[in-house]
Amino acid sequence: MFDGDPVVTGLRVTGDDGAAVRAVRARVARHLVGRENELDLLLAAVAAGRDLLLEGPPGTSKSTLLRAVTAEWGIPLVFVEGNADLTPTRLVGHHDPARVLREDYTPENFVPGPLIEAMRSGGFLYVEEFNRAPEDTLNTLLTAMAERRIAVPRVGTVVAEPSFRVIASMNPFDNVGTTRLSTSVHDRLCRLAIGYQDAEAERGIVARRTGVRSPRLVADAVALTRATRQRDDVRQGSSVRGAIDVALIAAQLAAMRGTTLPDEPSPDPPRGLPADYTATVLDALMLALSGRIFLDETVEATPEAVLRELWEDHFLLRPAAAAPG
Ligand SMILES: Nc1ncnc2c1ncn2[C@@H]1O[C@H](COP(=O)(O)OP(=O)(O)OP(=O)(O)O)[C@@H](O)[C@H]1O
Ligand SMILES: [Mg+2]
Repeated sequence: MFDGDPVVTGLRVTGDDGAAVRAVRARVARHLVGRENELDLLLAAVAAGRDLLLEGPPGTSKSTLLRAVTAEWGIPLVFVEGNADLTPTRLVGHHDPARVLREDYTPENFVPGPLIEAMRSGGFLYVEEFNRAPEDTLNTLLTAMAERRIAVPRVGTVVAEPSFRVIASMNPFDNVGTTRLSTSVHDRLCRLAIGYQDAEAERGIVARRTGVRSPRLVADAVALTRATRQRDDVRQGSSVRGAIDVALIAAQLAAMRGTTLPDEPSPDPPRGLPADYTATVLDALMLALSGRIFLDETVEATPEAVLRELWEDHFLLRPAAAAPG
């Protein structure tokens, strides 16, 4: 028994904590393009023993950051997706019904769910789309976070290893099938807001993830994808994932068609590029992005029409670039 909230210890790191965290930080940074500040804040929160909510649109490095941190720190990462099916039983675990018939309920025939797995192994439980989980599931999670232990019927009390953390993520623009998180939930979590990276970082990500060697194609894929986020008639544009796919598909199409990819980074704005190259980019753009952008319900346009307009603006017109000042 204990009085009040238990003290959550920081991650057990040997020797001087600051130096150990700095060493992990340096190793993790090698997996990432940019995100130095987010990495610092994430590491500080978990090293200080806190649970955390990562809030940002899709494709903004949330999983990548966590995978890199846990891999370099040697901590298990347990994934669970928040949705209506994530009941408290699925989160905690259940007794194998066939074995229960033969052996009755025993701790041995309990099949641990992701929460118990993370608590026992001292892992990070990563609950994606946290706000889609049912309220009673959130309450189970909050109790485990607050008490660092959970009573499981016919199993006993499971005490979390010191490095157990709950990392929740949510998309701030997600409003389908979501629970509005109560203030009591928010009051228990630190929050790290993550936005899109700048164009240079996105070019770095696309180059790294695709191996595409044409700086022109990488720049065009990033610029066109970013443009989907600037439009008033697009409710949610595409993340860097879309740019990665535009670049990969355009490179593949170019190889199949015998189209040469420009190997010069200029011209910028892109002018006088061969028509077979820009046509290939348009095909890749449609294939990669038409299912990924979500238009405002009030507009008549189609994703294809919006993408074609962005492509024309980028390669042919560029009114913004041509305008004086
Ligand atoms: N900073 C980065 N450095 C290197 N690669 C990155 C970076 N950010 C994103 N990526 C790449 O972009 C893709 C999407 O990133 P990630 O999966 O981390 O997004 P997410 O925030 O978890 O998205 P979601 O909310 O949809 O789960 C991945 O392929 C990842 O490799
Ligand atoms: Mg993710």
